[in-house]
Amino acid sequence: MAQTTFDAHPRSSLIVALDFDSLSSALKFAKQVADLVGMFKIGSQLFTAAGPSAVKEIAALGSGIFLDLKYHDIPNSVAGAVLSAAAMSGVQLINVHALGGKAMMEAAAQAISAGVPMGADRPRLLAVTVLTSMDHKAMKEVGIGGEPKLQVVRLAQLAKKAGVDGVVASVQEARAIRKACGRDFLIVTPGVRPKDSPVAPAADDQSRKATPSEAIRAGADFLVVGRPIIAAPDPRAAAQAIVDEIAAAK
Ligand code: C5P
Repeated sequence: MAQTTFDAHPRSSLIVALDFDSLSSALKFAKQVADLVGMFKIGSQLFTAAGPSAVKEIAALGSGIFLDLKYHDIPNSVAGAVLSAAAMSGVQLINVHALGGKAMMEAAAQAISAGVPMGADRPRLLAVTVLTSMDHKAMKEVGIGGEPKLQVVRLAQLAKKAGVDGVVASVQEARAIRKACGRDFLIVTPGVRPKDSPVAPAADDQSRKATPSEAIRAGADFLVVGRPIIAAPDPRAAAQAIVDEIAAAK
């Protein structure tokens, strides 16, 4: 049954992105660090390759699941997808694109409660505001003008109005979102790079990066970390170092 009572241990703020192309490699890696992390993130790559079995088998390790499938469709279709996702045991976070509109987000927010058995804690719904891969120029090309940061805050406020529980955003935007949307609105930040990250700067596609302590100080509730743990020579030590940094910054 989906449990969304986030405990206070610093490890519960760490979400490790399982960016693998097969369930066997994801499981092999997840088993190594499961006791050190709060959740595992299953994105479209792993879910497309392995389907709901990925959620079932990873959740069986005892950590929560962030099902990062970023739904974006008509409200009825998104509601159906969210209903199915919320019913999967272990799923604690689900997300949609805010650009799908207010009605779509409202439909998703309603579906999330409907998908959970009576009395059980429900998963939380997040919105992706603007993809962090999009800069000013890329946004203009799709018809969205103005400062990207203002658009991010505006979409976060719209998501909140629609009943969404929080957003995925870069650390650079976290403070402005926290100010606009209040203390209880969840902020999940990717692009986290510890000081001694094994990801070489030249090979790093994350353009808006921050250390774990910067993320926590900017107001993030959860940090999504992939390669700094997956590609580390000692993934357990890398995960533990991030948890220690989170603890020190809280
Ligand atoms: O390896 P790295 O730490 O960059 O992994 C970050 C994870 O967060 C990846 O799974 C990526 O898809 C995801 N993500 C992101 N930026 C967003 C949303 C999700 O990097 N805005």
